[in-house]
Amino acid sequence: MDVFKVSGNGPLHGEIQVSGAKNAALPILAATLLTEEPVVLRNVPDLSDMRSMLEILQHVGAETRQLEPGAWEIRSQKISHIAPYELVRKMRASVCLLGPLVARLGKAEVSIPGGCVIGPRPIDLHIKGLKKLNCQVEIANGYVYVDASNMRGGPIFLGGRSGSTVTGTANIVMAAVLAPGTTRLECAACEPEVVDLCRLLIKMGAQIKGIGSPELTITGVEKLHGCEHSVIADRIEAGTFVIAGAITRGDVTVKGIAPQLLGAFLDKLEEAGLPMELGDDYIRVLPYQGSLKPLDVITLPHPGYPTDLQAQLSALMTQTEGLSIITERIYPNRFMHVPELQRMGADIAIEGPSAIIKGASKLSGAPVMASDLRASAALILAAFAASGDTWIQRIYHLDRGYEHFEQKLSAIGAKIERLSDKEMPKELLDE
Ligand code: EPZ
Repeated sequence: MDVFKVSGNGPLHGEIQVSGAKNAALPILAATLLTEEPVVLRNVPDLSDMRSMLEILQHVGAETRQLEPGAWEIRSQKISHIAPYELVRKMRASVCLLGPLVARLGKAEVSIPGGCVIGPRPIDLHIKGLKKLNCQVEIANGYVYVDASNMRGGPIFLGGRSGSTVTGTANIVMAAVLAPGTTRLECAACEPEVVDLCRLLIKMGAQIKGIGSPELTITGVEKLHGCEHSVIADRIEAGTFVIAGAITRGDVTVKGIAPQLLGAFLDKLEEAGLPMELGDDYIRVLPYQGSLKPLDVITLPHPGYPTDLQAQLSALMTQTEGLSIITERIYPNRFMHVPELQRMGADIAIEGPSAIIKGASKLSGAPVMASDLRASAALILAAFAASGDTWIQRIYHLDRGYEHFEQKLSAIGAKIERLSDKEMPKELLDE
């Protein structure tokens, strides 16, 4: 298995390019099943999650062809309605096949995705939405069985205890675009990745009003056609790079991202006193002296502060004078990075859904364990600010969501090497 060896190497300097958004590309790949005509997608990031989703599409019968790096043509002429456990368990976002299979074939059998370290990851709202579209839904032996032979549009409220559901909204929109009649979807997710999916569906001939708002009105159409679409930039990757610049007091320009996709995140960094220059398609982090100010942050559905940038901000706040509080309202136990940051010298206490971070900790390199995608990024960010070497194991978590991570960061001065765990000092190997 691969590990990263990261050594603190002072301020990062230079330009770093953002890739296409994983969380847009995944539902968009699933949406290609909605038509038998070819769909061409560009700016698709080269990630293990993409390869998993392409494998599932091929399994149900789609033909996939890579046109050039980042560009794929997907054609789904004859497809099956079954997404099996052995493929779905590899990546829970494959639950996004439910909507398209139901819409295209009038039925679906999709394995229920497992939970993961950040939380149980239920799909009760997805099922509620399908039932509101007059589908018969049954759960048995770990599968969701849907009979959509009498599917029709109708009013749906999709809010749960933590607000809306991102992939739940994607599923219901992808089902409703071919459902006879009109669907009014209230408490829809407003994440930019859902907006990008809706933009693709419009290009395919869907009729959707209210895109980007919590109220969508979808008028079902007979058929959808092929199109070309370029996937939106990954705001979470961009935010991760912004924090890499900030935690090393560097001068880093994150390119290919519209700052308005990161409103709440940039607002909090401004509150912390981080000097930044914002352009139409870049965010430049500027060097600063002294300490940033501590923050009180609560993660919320978009446009609130994104949960996917919570762990990364926690790493930055370990370097900031004073006490910061980060409260996780989406996944209350999304703190797997905390024990690993503590091994590096961070002073963090978990109080219920909040991390209380006592700043200005001197971090030192240590062998640490990645546990999930964003926690992995947080450990690497902390390692940039630590003295000495940090060995990060199980970085396959990171490879799910960050394209060419070590290459992009090495190019702006980071000391980060991908090695085999056999090259780790014996005494550091995880028993
Ligand atoms: C998406 O997951 C993202 N993944 C996650 O990013 C992200 O953290 C999450 O949205 C929240 O923004 C993809 O888009 C592939 P939700 P999703 O359904 O759709 C509860 C990353 O790091 N809920 O919006 O699975 C749920 O438990 C990943 O890139 C229900 O109760 O998240 C959670 O508390 C991690 N019932 C909240 O809603 C449901 O039926 C938000 O979940 C569905 C969700």
